[in-house]
Amino acid sequence: MAAETQSTGSAPRTQYAYDEWMDTRGVPVHRGFFVPDCRTAELAWWEERKCNAAFIQLEGQQGVSETRITEIKPGETQPPYKMSINEVVYVLSGRGVTNVWTDNEGDARSFEWEDRALYMVPAGYQRQFVNMQGDKPARLLHYSHLPVAMSIVPDPDFFLNNPYQPPAGAFSRHQDFYSEAKFVGSGEGLFWHASRAYWYGNFFPDMQAWDKLGQQQGRGGSKSVTIQFAGSEMTCHMSVFQPRTYKPAHRHGPGRAIVIPGGEGFSLMWEEGKERVIVPWHEGSMFVPPNKWFHQHFNLAGDPARYLALHPMMQFHGHDEKVVDRANNQIEFAHEDPWIREYFESELAKRGLTSLMPDEAYKNPDYVFKAA
Ligand SMILES: [Fe+2]
Repeated sequence: MAAETQSTGSAPRTQYAYDEWMDTRGVPVHRGFFVPDCRTAELAWWEERKCNAAFIQLEGQQGVSETRITEIKPGETQPPYKMSINEVVYVLSGRGVTNVWTDNEGDARSFEWEDRALYMVPAGYQRQFVNMQGDKPARLLHYSHLPVAMSIVPDPDFFLNNPYQPPAGAFSRHQDFYSEAKFVGSGEGLFWHASRAYWYGNFFPDMQAWDKLGQQQGRGGSKSVTIQFAGSEMTCHMSVFQPRTYKPAHRHGPGRAIVIPGGEGFSLMWEEGKERVIVPWHEGSMFVPPNKWFHQHFNLAGDPARYLALHPMMQFHGHDEKVVDRANNQIEFAHEDPWIREYFESELAKRGLTSLMPDEAYKNPDYVFKAA
């Protein structure tokens, strides 16, 4: 059915309003289960934004979260645009500056970024991206909840370049607005994951180098950090796991975009009782575990690996990383299909490596990993 027919209201809608908008931008839409490398994924010219771009809509994202790659040419300054909702930006590659502002005095900010930086641009702000390098392009990965927003108001002009602006200081009054992120301990009035400590801020300089992590003993001995972006409900987490090990399978709700800041490995994803999808990854790879699919992450290298999971709205978390119902949503090593261990070990062997998984973990479902 043509998009025009759908938007008239005279025929039943067969697509999310966001999908209708995305599909008519004239740039590639990468679908399936993963993008091998967002730093080299195919892009095409997006006239509206005056840059090369592509959308990524993997299985499990539909209607929940948007991801988009934009590329800024060497030395160029992008024309500004405005979104009425918060937008998270992860720097796939390059070095540049982002300017954000409203018409209100005191709201303007400028900050520099380089490879693997992570930041949020607040709702209602103009944003302008500048590539500071004259010899290579810069690539950004944008993440937002626009599909949900457009299911409520199915009009892109309501969300893009809408002249409404937030009241003076709506975001800039937050002490942490682009200043150094601050640690918030558990139990300090957080309304989600109250037992988990947060970093609270809008700018994180390099997710590969970020080393302020907490132990996550229930998840194969990995370490993690949870981030809440200042002045918003947007969150993400990053998990860092040890060389030649893997994490237990678990499952939760849809829409989490996982991007790899560093390391080499693979993930398995499967719907209960169905065939497994193998997702090989390294820096710049992106994948999304579909709704309620089990997924499991494996480090195939001699160094720690890390993945960054950009979260959908809290309403979509489902049985989340905290694993509320652990028996139903996490498979302990002692209970997993032996094929998984065999496959992991065979992949390591191809690289001349052996597993560092403790044998005891496969025998005792209550095995507790030692702090790394
Ligand atoms: Fe997960």
